[in-house]
Amino acid sequence: MSKRIVVLISGSGSNLQAIMDAIDASQINGRIEAVLSNKADAFGLERARKANIPALILKHTEFESREAFDQAMIAKIDEYKPDLIVLAGFMRILTPEFVRHYEGRMFNIHPSLLPKYKGLHTHQRALESGDLEHGCTVHFVTEELDGGPLAVQGKVSIDMDDDADSLQQKVHKVEHRIYPLAVEWFCADKLQWTPEGVKFDNTLLPASGYQLESGE
Ligand code: GAR
Repeated sequence: MSKRIVVLISGSGSNLQAIMDAIDASQINGRIEAVLSNKADAFGLERARKANIPALILKHTEFESREAFDQAMIAKIDEYKPDLIVLAGFMRILTPEFVRHYEGRMFNIHPSLLPKYKGLHTHQRALESGDLEHGCTVHFVTEELDGGPLAVQGKVSIDMDDDADSLQQKVHKVEHRIYPLAVEWFCADKLQWTPEGVKFDNTLLPASGYQLESGE
């Protein structure tokens, strides 16, 4: 059965676009029922409107507390009865209540090889540490920020002449491959969150998740 997806964004929405393209190409057996942004000017909302997907705005600045905002988001999101919530550049810290409500069915993408470099400025931090490789991770969301079980990881090499911008661009390209893949596998019931860990085809994945090979 086709899965119902709600995507949360705060910005450009290039990962949202990659997932929309994969749905159009029938790679993903799912449908984006709505896109929700906490920012009215997020470009991702334009992408949703163009594809005739409901583009919802809920401004966190109009709520008294994080709890009130998250409860309002839950109410709005649940109107669409989602099987999967996709955080695609949604730059808000979520309350434990929100995270628990969508346990096992909410993905985030983070621009680092988690558990390295949780938080911000990941590209700069990888460069400053002298790392030879960097990348991005799709993970299930838990109450720990950028800390949930890892689902899919993609790597890039760090070259001598890379700066934070060039590295960000390289990583972004890989994000656009691993996020549609993770959503595809979730929608096909291949990739599952279980209390023991993340399973792929009913087999436990290593803690670092499924490693995407460069040619894959
Ligand atoms: C992506 O690079 C994603 O990894 C990052 O925001 C960007 C959104 O880009 N997310 C985080 O840093 C979350 N901690 P997009 O709006 O073009 O998809």
